[in-house]
Amino acid sequence: MQRPLIIALDLDDAGKRRELLSHFDKETLFVKVGMELFYREGRQVIEELKDAGHQIFLDLKLHDIPNTVQRTMKELASLDIDIVNVHAAGGKKMMSAAREGLDQGTPVGKERPILIAVTQLTSTDEGTMQKELLIQQPLNEVVRTYASFAKESGVDGVVCSAKEVPLIHDACGSSFYTVCPGIRRAEDAVGDQKRVVTPHEARELGSWGIVVGRSITSAENPFNVYQQMKQDWEG
Ligand code: C5P
Repeated sequence: MQRPLIIALDLDDAGKRRELLSHFDKETLFVKVGMELFYREGRQVIEELKDAGHQIFLDLKLHDIPNTVQRTMKELASLDIDIVNVHAAGGKKMMSAAREGLDQGTPVGKERPILIAVTQLTSTDEGTMQKELLIQQPLNEVVRTYASFAKESGVDGVVCSAKEVPLIHDACGSSFYTVCPGIRRAEDAVGDQKRVVTPHEARELGSWGIVVGRSITSAENPFNVYQQMKQDWEG
């Protein structure tokens, strides 16, 4: 799989989603379907996007007991998605169960979806992690250790800030997937993201994939911005 620029389809309704995608004409994309969209439109939206030729990162961030996660992943593997994820905070047993569920549910002759784990949400800073989650280690150490646990559990990579990619590669090797949100062009509004980088910087840091939401979805001409960012990403 080529290193993807993934567009986050964080839009309020099916009309806005279709309107956004209409700007891309016949271009096949890699899109991220998040909780809002999946809970609203379910399997049907996945089928619609697949029929249009798009690849899909289903961003549901599962976190539950191992048995439930395994059964859910088995179910999701039948959807023909390309990437799916869990929270590393669910622990090694849960992550192994996720992998097992995907292995069981992937139809014969199809490729298993890539499984990635969220280490710490980019909205969680060190203060919150220590005071509210009662995790006392430095954030970087937590990210590094959770990534190692993910790898040991059969997970293929992590969602992380591009700035964390070097330490993750150091801990897990450079073929461990790193999918990075928090991407902006230099001229874009940062919004609620705390630490942003440009597509070019993400590439320089070694990110495997980037996730771009508002820079593209809120643009007057989404296709132009997409092309600009893709060029910056691919170099
Ligand atoms: O609009 P923006 O480019 O900030 O969107 C980033 C996307 O990546 C959103 O869908 C957000 O939920 C997701 N994401 C993130 N940070 C994480 C995991 C996912 O921003 N740690």
